[in-house]
Order: sequence, then C-alpha cells, then structure tokens
Amino acid sequence: MSMPLIDSFGRLHTYLRISVTDRCNLRCRYCMPSEGLQWKKREELLSFEEIERLAAIFVGMGVNKIRLTGGEPMLRRDFPELVARLARLRESGLNKSRLNKSGLNKSGLNTTGLKDLAMTTNATLLAGQAALLKEKGLSHINISLDSFKPERFEQITRLSCFEAVKAGLHEAIAAGFSKLKLNMVVIAGFNDDEILDFAAFASEHKINVRFIEFMPFKDNDWQIDKVVTFKEMKTTLDKHFQLSPAKQEAGDVARDFELAGGGSLSFITSMSESFCSSCNRLRLTSDGSMKSCLFYPAEINLRDAMRQNASDEELRGMIRGCLAGKPEAHPPAEEIAARDNRSMIEIGG
Ligand code: GTP
Ligand code: 5AD
Ligand code: SF4
Repeated sequence: MSMPLIDSFGRLHTYLRISVTDRCNLRCRYCMPSEGLQWKKREELLSFEEIERLAAIFVGMGVNKIRLTGGEPMLRRDFPELVARLARLRESGLNKSRLNKSGLNKSGLNTTGLKDLAMTTNATLLAGQAALLKEKGLSHINISLDSFKPERFEQITRLSCFEAVKAGLHEAIAAGFSKLKLNMVVIAGFNDDEILDFAAFASEHKINVRFIEFMPFKDNDWQIDKVVTFKEMKTTLDKHFQLSPAKQEAGDVARDFELAGGGSLSFITSMSESFCSSCNRLRLTSDGSMKSCLFYPAEINLRDAMRQNASDEELRGMIRGCLAGKPEAHPPAEEIAARDNRSMIEIGG
C-alpha cells in the first residue's frame, strides 16, 4: 500500500504507458526520421520480468490503466505472454481493506488494482492474433490508420502492407473489443480530405474514430500550417453528420461526440487546446526510463537502478522524484519542435 501519485499541481496519475519495443515495421513520416535511428539491443530493453516488476510497483501506487505501446508492440517476441503476465495484476494494487464501499480510499483514489490493459498498434500483425490477445487479458485496442487509400497509406508509412492492416482492423472489430478506437493523424493537404470517410467508417462499424492534431517531434517534418485544428475538422463534419457531445471521463485526452445512429467521433486537440491540466499519464520507454510528460525531455532510468539491485522502496522514491519534476503544461508548439526530445517512435506516443 502506498500513497497515490499526485504531482506538484495536484494531478492524480493513474495511467501508465509502457513501450515494449522501440522497433517498428512501418516508417511513418510523422513519427520517425527516415534515417539515423538505431534500434536498441536486446539487453538494453526491459525484460518481461522487469516490466512486470515495474508495472506491479506502479499499480501498487494507484495506476489502474496500462497501455502497451512501441514502436509496434506486437513486434516484441512472445507479446501475448507479456499480456497474460500483466493481466494478472488485475485486482491487485492498493490494499482493498483500506477502501470504502465505492472503492475509494482516504485520498479519494478510485482503484482496486489494474482495470484496463490496453494496446496501441499499427495492426499490421493483428490478423490471426486479435482473439488470442483478448483471451490473454487485453481489454482495449487502439489502431493507428491515417488513410483508406492504399497508395497514400504507403506514402505515409513508407511501406506497402495496407491489406494486412485492413485485415487486422476487421478482426479486432469482430473479436468484440469494447470501445475499439481508430486513430487518424490528420495532416493538412495530405489526408484531411478523408475525414468524412473515416467518420462514415465509425458510423458503419459502430466504433470510435479519433482525429488527432499533428504534433511536432524530432525530425518529423512538422509545420504549423500542416495542423488541422479541432474546430476546422468539426466544422467539416457538422455539415454531414449529427454529432452530440458525449460524457467525458477524467484524464481523457480526447473531446468525444456520439454519432446519431451509432459509433462516435473524438478529437485529440494537443495543438489547439492543451489538456495538460487534467493529465493523468506517466510513461516508461522500452529501455526503462520513466518520463513524466510526452514533451518534456527529462527522464529517470529505472532499468539501471533495478539492475543495480534497487529495492521496491528505492524505485518508488525514484518514481516520485520523476513525478515531482513534471511540468504544469507543455510549451508552445514551435518551442516543442526545437527541443531535443526523443522522437515519437522512441517514446511510444
Ligand atoms: P485512450 O486510453 O483510449 O484514451 O488512448 P490514448 O489516447 O491514451 O492513447 P493512444 O496511444 O491511442 O494515443 C492517441 C494520441 O494521443 C497519440 O497521438 C498520442 O500521442 C496522443 N497523446 C497520448 N498521450 C498524450 C499526452 O500526454 N499529451 C499529448 N499532448 N498527447 C498525447
Ligand atoms: N502527432 C500526432 N500523433 C502522432 N502519432 C504518432 N506521431 C504523431 C504525431 N506527430 C500517433 C500515432 C498513434 C499514436 C500512438 O500516436 O498515429 O496512433
Ligand atoms: Fe510505427 Fe506507429 Fe510510428 Fe507508424 S506511428 S512508425 S506505425 S510506431
């Protein structure tokens, strides 16, 4: 039992994103530079045991949602086994005897252990695996797809495997993952003409499509005039679809709208309307560094501490130290672009 993860600005942290590999089988232009990235060596990555140990420590500190990311998480060997191991953290976490009937402890923390075990994937390897992952304990999947046009898909990912992605996406829908989300990074002059097609897909398959404002990272060719803002997208969509605001949950990064007739649309407004004030996220990179903010370069290395025999208590101290340095908000977009942060593929989103 441990004190909840509250930072200097009063934000409660209950969501951990764990990158399980820095490798990807795609080369999305907005995510990674075309050359110069060196994949990490096997021994640099956290082992399954190390991931499990850190995940258990975070859950003991109040984390109730873990998302596995990459690179592409499914490239990690024996990925379904990792899912099964982490799924065992369900119903662990804060000491239940200290919780009242509604599952709240004295600090008002609403958790009884791990609730959600999620993954964000490019879906290239999902066909044939979706049902298995669900069986192993994966509860939510977000799929990244930026175009339904095969040639355009290839242009953005620098690879041609659109058919595999399509198969993976449909299999995930069929496997019945609740709240399946499709992430589309919208880039002006490139794929913004497909917004309506994506909305129609959400409506047809009764899933959630999220339109993401293009964000700046190291060498990702970002310019302010390539950002399509939430307001611009909403204006386009309102002409063709009936959107009504949905109930928001604490820590949501997206503005959610229900579609009349089923399905929903969301907007991730990182550039036009920051949602930092309700941020509940922490991150672990594949090489075992903890980051308190996507756009803040500072990291602390938990892997090396573990390999030098740090105790759980010492690791908790390091985690709190990292959280104490979390900034109140990310800097303006132009400043972010100039910073020496890791690229998106290394952070895992
Ligand atoms: P849910 O758990 O379903 O809400 O998913 P998620 O939005 O946390 O995860 P996902 O991996 O699908 O990320 C979707 C988009 O949100 C990506 O473009 C992320 O980079 C962006 N995003 C995730 N976390 C943050 C954050 O802390 N700050 C900002 N500005 N953007 C973020
Ligand atoms: N801006 C916005 N979203 C991005 N993603 C990757 N790079 C960027 C960027 N520069 C998205 C991916 C994936 C999620 C983890 O982050 O499309 O859905
Ligand atoms: Fe790979 Fe996702 Fe980055 Fe594309 S956005 S290169 S699929 S990690």
